[in-house]
Amino acid sequence: MKPLLIGPFTQLLPMTGLPIKGTLKDEQLSIIENGAILVHEGKILKVGTFENLKSEDADIHHIQGDAVCLPGFVDSHTHICFAGTRARDYAFRNAGKTYLEIAKAGGGIWDTVTQTRKASEEALVQGIISRSKKHLKNGITTIEVKSGYGLSVDEELKMLRAIKKANATVSATLVPTCLAAHMKPKDWNQDKAYLDEIINTLFPIIKSENLAHRVDAFVEESAFSPEEIKPYFQKAKDMGFDITVHADQFSTGGSQLAVDFGAVSADHLEASTEKEIQLLAKSNTIATALPGASLGLGCAYTPARKILDAGGALSIASDHNPGSAPMGDLLTQASILGTFEKLSNTEVLAGITFRAAAALRMADRGKLASGTWADFVVFPTNNYQEITYHQGQLKPSQVWKKGEPIHQND
Ligand code: NIG
Ligand code: FE
Repeated sequence: MKPLLIGPFTQLLPMTGLPIKGTLKDEQLSIIENGAILVHEGKILKVGTFENLKSEDADIHHIQGDAVCLPGFVDSHTHICFAGTRARDYAFRNAGKTYLEIAKAGGGIWDTVTQTRKASEEALVQGIISRSKKHLKNGITTIEVKSGYGLSVDEELKMLRAIKKANATVSATLVPTCLAAHMKPKDWNQDKAYLDEIINTLFPIIKSENLAHRVDAFVEESAFSPEEIKPYFQKAKDMGFDITVHADQFSTGGSQLAVDFGAVSADHLEASTEKEIQLLAKSNTIATALPGASLGLGCAYTPARKILDAGGALSIASDHNPGSAPMGDLLTQASILGTFEKLSNTEVLAGITFRAAAALRMADRGKLASGTWADFVVFPTNNYQEITYHQGQLKPSQVWKKGEPIHQND
């Protein structure tokens, strides 16, 4: 098969040549006018102007009209494997009920655990597929998906197997993460015994069935303390898992642990103070802002501006889950975070492309360059600034995955 030349795009933003860490000004953004992408076997051979690339021996896919092309978006933190709804929690929260009152009324993470345990593996697969399809239409071509609503060896396995099955069906790449330490399961009276069971029984099965290469924990007063999580992370690290942490959402301690364990990312960080910001900025751990959780809970945003100014790396993810972040629209949330935190367009776009890919340790996506996957999103406009300006309401006209058009609006 001949390579395929796709273009011309009014503007093509390859998101290359930009640093992983620190501030980004829009003047640093390289924009190729009348750009094109040369693709072969799902990967990019060349990126350049249509004029220069049209002499290549390739078939041509002509792009009509205004089109801004960006790398496919990467959502580096979601919980889209779940059953049921938590609309009642949302209503309670907005009526002023406290976290404790909601938990007492049967709400909170445990409610979703109960509902997810009742669901069959196949029902979970279908839920992931339908949520992934929605994300794909919004230009997200790689989606991290956590377990964490099973909270027993068998139920966590059910979730991870469902994610693996869904991954074989959907066009997006799903990146599974084991979040068996999401909260202390209410049906175990000894928390340590639960984590021991996870470490000794679940981790080896995850390895042998190749169900995930990432392990996460919710480090928080209402979940696990740093001390409790240390043996869990140590074992995960010894077994070769990448570590990621739900850190500093309401209280601090998580980001210190993340840095100590060389975690790939520390996510949430709404409660991070100057100390944690400096700590993260000096480390190789990517700081992940989850504006969908701030919007869902009515809480402060992650101090994204301060993190970037301190020299940190910022990924922006949806945290899509039934409890704290039910909206699940990454571009809307990232755009809104940009307005509140005063982020440049380049910082917002980097946060959902190559910096998000770095949070998943995936160097083969999140930018458009020779050798990366031909995952890209096209917006029907002649100016990339329109994308965040419309705060998620300007929808992609096309989404391509591995060199194939998987969604077309025009
Ligand atoms: O990332 N913070 C902990 N976990 C999720 C919330 C999950 C839920 O409420 O169901 C989060 O926000
Ligand atoms: Fe989360």
